[in-house]
Amino acid sequence: MKPVMVWAGAGQIGMAIARRMGYGMKIIVGDRRIENAQAAAKIMNEAGYDVLPMEMDLSSREDILRLIAEGQKHGEIKMLVNSAGVSPSQAPVEAILKVDLYGTAALLEEVGKVIAPGGVGVTISSQSSKRMPQLTAEEDALLACTPTEELLSLDMLQPQNIRDTLHAYQLVKRCNEKRVMSEAVKWGERGARLNSISPGIIVTPLAIDEFNGPRGDFYKNMFAKCPAGRPGTADEVANVAELLMSDRGAFITGADFLCDGGATASYYYGPLRPQA
Ligand SMILES: NC(=O)c1ccc[n+]([C@@H]2O[C@H](COP(=O)([O-])OP(=O)(O)OC[C@H]3O[C@@H](n4cnc5c(N)ncnc54)[C@H](O)[C@@H]3O)[C@@H](O)[C@H]2O)c1
Repeated sequence: MKPVMVWAGAGQIGMAIARRMGYGMKIIVGDRRIENAQAAAKIMNEAGYDVLPMEMDLSSREDILRLIAEGQKHGEIKMLVNSAGVSPSQAPVEAILKVDLYGTAALLEEVGKVIAPGGVGVTISSQSSKRMPQLTAEEDALLACTPTEELLSLDMLQPQNIRDTLHAYQLVKRCNEKRVMSEAVKWGERGARLNSISPGIIVTPLAIDEFNGPRGDFYKNMFAKCPAGRPGTADEVANVAELLMSDRGAFITGADFLCDGGATASYYYGPLRPQA
């Protein structure tokens, strides 16, 4: 038996985190596109890791339970990495809600029931949520605490209340951060920690779809005018994950970390500020 990492979404950000934290562990990686999970597993297995790929759709609780059950065959689940998701240019509103919002909530809940003492999890949110105006305290509490199976019935998540896929994505990522806060309380009862990371533009297939999508110029302008003046890399997100998932992060749980090259700062108080 080995300590186990369950990892959803075999993309670039997830792989950077899994490589940084998953040495010596059994890693079970699930992706809706099995070929992505297999490709990540091949690269990592040829580099000394022990990775098992699975087909798994984050929007299905049944699939989440299969991912967890597979992990438990190999040992105790000590780490969760959730880097599965679809972006505003990749999917319609309904899919963004079902995968990134419902799926993430269900995954945090189910892993929270079995995570080992001393276990840690990270889920990937987005700086995009920070641009949306504040929600009310009541709305935040609904996103944080509504039972997972009722989340998609919330009024604020009905199609007539969502402007477009970008608005859906922002709401979803805000929900991820709130969900991490409420779940971190439950994870804490098991001696485990849970945090989220909100990256800015990180060059991955998902971001490249955005560069080539209807908001391409907006995204290119965003990294050109942020204080860092460039997009980030998945390994820079893994730097944050390493802090959060290692013992150095022992006092950090229920928190969200912005890693965006200063794009949010510039959006509020610099050249990225929207013109009135
Ligand atoms: N790249 C960025 O600029 C950026 C910025 C902020 C947040 N994020 C977030 O980071 C996370 C990871 O994205 P990435 O940039 O590494 O992209 P990526 O395209 O490299 O990886 C995403 C992976 O998730 C998988 N996936 C999609 N839907 C799924 C589902 N229903 N079930 C299981 N797997 C599914 C995809 O097949 C893909 O392998 C996403 O949640 C994304 O919203 C990315």
